[in-house]
Amino acid sequence: MDSTNIKRIGILTSGGDAPGMNAAIRALVLAAHHYHIEVIGFYHGYNGLVYEENIAQAKVLTLKDVNGIIHRGGTILKSARCPQMLTQQGLKQSVNTLKDNNIDALVVIGGDGSFNGLLALQPLWHGQLIGIPGTIDNDLDGTDFTIGFATAVNTAIEAIDKIRDTADAFERIFIVELMGRHSGHITFNVGIACAAEQVLSFENFCIDDQQAKIIELAKEIKTAKENRHTSYIIVIAENLWPDGAANLAEQLNKAADIDCTACVLGHIQRGGSPVPKDRLLATKMGVAALQAIISGENNIMIAEQNSAICSIPLEQAVQHHKRVSQQLVDAQENILALTAQTQY
Ligand code: F6P
Repeated sequence: MDSTNIKRIGILTSGGDAPGMNAAIRALVLAAHHYHIEVIGFYHGYNGLVYEENIAQAKVLTLKDVNGIIHRGGTILKSARCPQMLTQQGLKQSVNTLKDNNIDALVVIGGDGSFNGLLALQPLWHGQLIGIPGTIDNDLDGTDFTIGFATAVNTAIEAIDKIRDTADAFERIFIVELMGRHSGHITFNVGIACAAEQVLSFENFCIDDQQAKIIELAKEIKTAKENRHTSYIIVIAENLWPDGAANLAEQLNKAADIDCTACVLGHIQRGGSPVPKDRLLATKMGVAALQAIISGENNIMIAEQNSAICSIPLEQAVQHHKRVSQQLVDAQENILALTAQTQY
């Protein structure tokens, strides 16, 4: 490895924060320290490169700064979305900031929107551009897991297990809405792990005819309730049903006199202490990002494939959303969901 040319790396966290981002920042700073490279932290996502008041906050991250953060959710660098990165003016300002701070490589921890920011900088700046996948949605192509997904799944499972207790006590029907933007990784994994009677997501449910779907759903719920006097949990991906879980509950009530309680888990899924899996993934990726920079890699996302850390072109990571495992979808559709209707 030849680290002689690299003196300063910039790092920022962007888009929806994800538990484990701090662990990745820490790992990068520790690895950089080992190779006598300075890390400059930019605050508030790409705003830290664009707006004067945010640029002024940029600082060298020391070992002290990253001490005691591996277990903390959120991000010590703060995060934000930055529409200015879609404009030539915003990009130009970002390049100026990187140049003014003598940055040789920029590391961005975030999701696909954040990596599109990196790709937009590509033709304008000659430094190295490195992405680390950090999003609870797990929807980035080319990596088996993104930082934060395991924790979000864990958090949602813990919440739904609690909902199950009260649902059982009242033999009640719950509709629980889960995050994921437009993909169902969280919904499917959580739904299956909580033994949800219904998993409704983009991968297995298409709302072409709302009324027909309501009738179909109502029939399934009624059959299940007639066969077994017990709780019934539907997990549903956010942005799937028009106006969300509350509206679905209302429609079921109006059309079929079914009484459901809607519960939107929301941002609870983004917070909390990262589970060991996320701490380890983030640490491995943070170290790998530094090693990739030293090796001269550019325009890449650090990834994990079959338990091995690797890198893939940034373009590939954002080209398609990673699909939910078909095995998982099939298991739910063809086996697990059917038993929810069965008498036993
Ligand atoms: O991308 C992470 C995520 O939490 C999505 O699951 C969700 O759709 C979105 O961010 C919510 O964004 P915001 O916090 O800006 O409402």
